[in-house]
Amino acid sequence: MANATDHLWMHFTRMASYSAGEVPTIVRGEGAYVWDAQGRRYLDGLAGLFVVNAGHGRTELAEAAAKQAGELAYFPLWSYAHPKAVELAEKISSLTPGDLNRVFFTTGGSEAVEAAWKLARAYFKRTGQPNKYKVISRYIAYHGTSMGALSITGLPGIKSDFEPLVPGAIKVPNTNFYRAPEHGDSPEAFGRWAADEIGRAIEREGPDTVAAVFLEPVQNSGGCFPPPPGYFERVREICDAYDVLLVSDEVICSWGRLGEYFGAVRYGYQPDIITTAKGITSGYAPLGAMIASDRLMEPFLTETGMFAHGVTFGGHPVSCAVALANLEVFAREDLVGHVRANEDAFRSTLEKLYDLPIVGDVRGDGYFYGIELVKDKTTRETFDEAESERLLRGFLSTALFQAGLYCRADDRGDPVVQLAPPLIAEQQHFDEIEQILRTVLTEAWARL
Ligand SMILES: Cc1ncc(COP(=O)(O)O)c(C=O)c1O
Repeated sequence: MANATDHLWMHFTRMASYSAGEVPTIVRGEGAYVWDAQGRRYLDGLAGLFVVNAGHGRTELAEAAAKQAGELAYFPLWSYAHPKAVELAEKISSLTPGDLNRVFFTTGGSEAVEAAWKLARAYFKRTGQPNKYKVISRYIAYHGTSMGALSITGLPGIKSDFEPLVPGAIKVPNTNFYRAPEHGDSPEAFGRWAADEIGRAIEREGPDTVAAVFLEPVQNSGGCFPPPPGYFERVREICDAYDVLLVSDEVICSWGRLGEYFGAVRYGYQPDIITTAKGITSGYAPLGAMIASDRLMEPFLTETGMFAHGVTFGGHPVSCAVALANLEVFAREDLVGHVRANEDAFRSTLEKLYDLPIVGDVRGDGYFYGIELVKDKTTRETFDEAESERLLRGFLSTALFQAGLYCRADDRGDPVVQLAPPLIAEQQHFDEIEQILRTVLTEAWARL
């Protein structure tokens, strides 16, 4: 739309880049596809923003929203409940691993992360360890943009404008096996090393000052890194040894994205807290949640105890109704099982791209993949800043979009093309993704 930039301030957007051209405006979605204002169709290779897990155009989710708004549009969860929040909290608890039975609703992922850090601090204050307030996370990992969540985020480029941030957010190396600084010949030894880096950071900071470790099951930004073997098992041991909470930040990795309802289940570890959002409603309404273990709620169950935190729209009735309807679709169509049944096909279709000189690494799990682009396959040499600017920001995203594929060319770490289609995607969609990538990446290579 020509006037899109007059008043609309888009998120993480170089607004000036649209001064000469039109902002792509998406007006409709159906299944795995979306359409723009000119009627052009695109394969939604990113499920919006890792959100539309059940796919676009589900009128039953829209109807669930309308019905709830007609019945009870809004009531807060501040000392009151409404039926859909109660029902959804119970439903979520039945799907979480172990005793993660306490659901604190938010409106999105950053708020869930924020709530988790606050809970970790408040929990230790109430259990006699008031100095435990720091958090550990990985370099490059994205955990959100509110000041607490941004402090946990490990991307200097999106933080520097807002310094000083919240103190006590410590960073450890990422789990990038493709560029492993140590143990590049053994995923097991690398996993052990990367986990032990968390233990070393806790020792350096002082175990009596560290409250929590925040990790995504598959680390998204800049990479799409599945955990190396043994990584989470060792992290769990370290957290137990130092009495540090393990927060599984599953804002992307839950609700079937990795072929399970929760990423922690996929990789077989037990977190103390799960943070989630996005796919919980498949995007038909905004919702997030912090899901805590029974143990973490205990100190707040005294006569005057209270977790002094909340947001007006957390657990909005319409969003909860939509989430319940979404989970009904999941169950009826076995979307989680569909991902498990098709993930190998998705992987092997993407791996066909290895014959292109620019494709260095194809990695991921479930319906969540990153394709790392390199200048030299043998040496794994990456692009310099000018090449990245020309190739990724200047060419790739737009060219892929023009060719009919909406996905993301991300260079917040090393340059990757990220793919996370709606969970209904199947072979015909994988093939379409592969063919468009093949054409555009071939052209990108020629332009280098
Ligand atoms: C792992 C993780 N945590 C937190 C967030 C922040 O979520 P939101 O954008 O809903 O605030 C994101 C967003 O992509 C995320 O991927």
